[in-house]
Amino acid sequence: MFESKSGILAIAGLGFFIFAFVVMGALPWTIYRDQPEDTVLQLAQNGITHEFVDLAERFPDEFREYFGEVSYASYAEALELGRDVYVAEACWHCHSQFVRPVSREDVRWGPVAHAREYNNELQRPVLFGTRRVGPDLSREAARRSNDWHVAHFHNPIDVVPLTVMPAYPWLFNDRVPNKKGMAIITYVQWLGSWLKEYPDYETPAPVETAPGQDDSESNLAERDHDAAEKT
Ligand code: HEC
Repeated sequence: MFESKSGILAIAGLGFFIFAFVVMGALPWTIYRDQPEDTVLQLAQNGITHEFVDLAERFPDEFREYFGEVSYASYAEALELGRDVYVAEACWHCHSQFVRPVSREDVRWGPVAHAREYNNELQRPVLFGTRRVGPDLSREAARRSNDWHVAHFHNPIDVVPLTVMPAYPWLFNDRVPNKKGMAIITYVQWLGSWLKEYPDYETPAPVETAPGQDDSESNLAERDHDAAEKT
């Protein structure tokens, strides 16, 4: 069987298909089927991100008009609308939300994705994505400031000159994010905020000393010493 063409086809085509189905479909289903799906409000109650509060402080009048006060309910509303904008604007066309356990993706993006992370209302439909024209976004929370996102969504090339990400001027009223704009920022600033690693998804590697500057520490000490003497 192992030497015949049909045997190889059976194992490669059917055998591995069944194996993949069991490992990636049936097994997680047996493990997680009794876990209730989290509602958006439950997700919000896990903790309001600092960035949502920051939006309220940065754009107080607009925020009050769109979402009222900072609360679990308003946070849930913003998250849900943000997910809808993400789907409607087809962000998933260029971005994945799935850190795979291969190719050392965790070094670039943080912890490998876990099935439990997708068992909630905001992942209906699941937004794994199919292509990565842009980076994976499932550990985006707090990686950038709100200001950065405002500038980036308004016109990406202002902050990343060679990017192919399109501008989203309709998420703004006169450079201030409108309701959808604030919602999409709230949403990307939530992605990954449920992890214990948040907001430091990667272990910072020690910075290598540049050639010729290996005594930089003692230089710094000398400089401080000089400065102290002059004053
Ligand atoms: C045509 C493909 C494309 C589409 C559509 C797109 N992006 Fe991007 N996006 C990119 C690329 C490429 C980058 C990397 C360069 C950059 O930062 O602009 C990026 C970067 C980003 C970043 C910054 C990631 C980081 O921390 O470096 C965020 C956040 C983001 N996109 C969110 C979105 C959202 C939300 C949408 C939908 C409203 C969207 N993108 C639509 C291609 C796209």
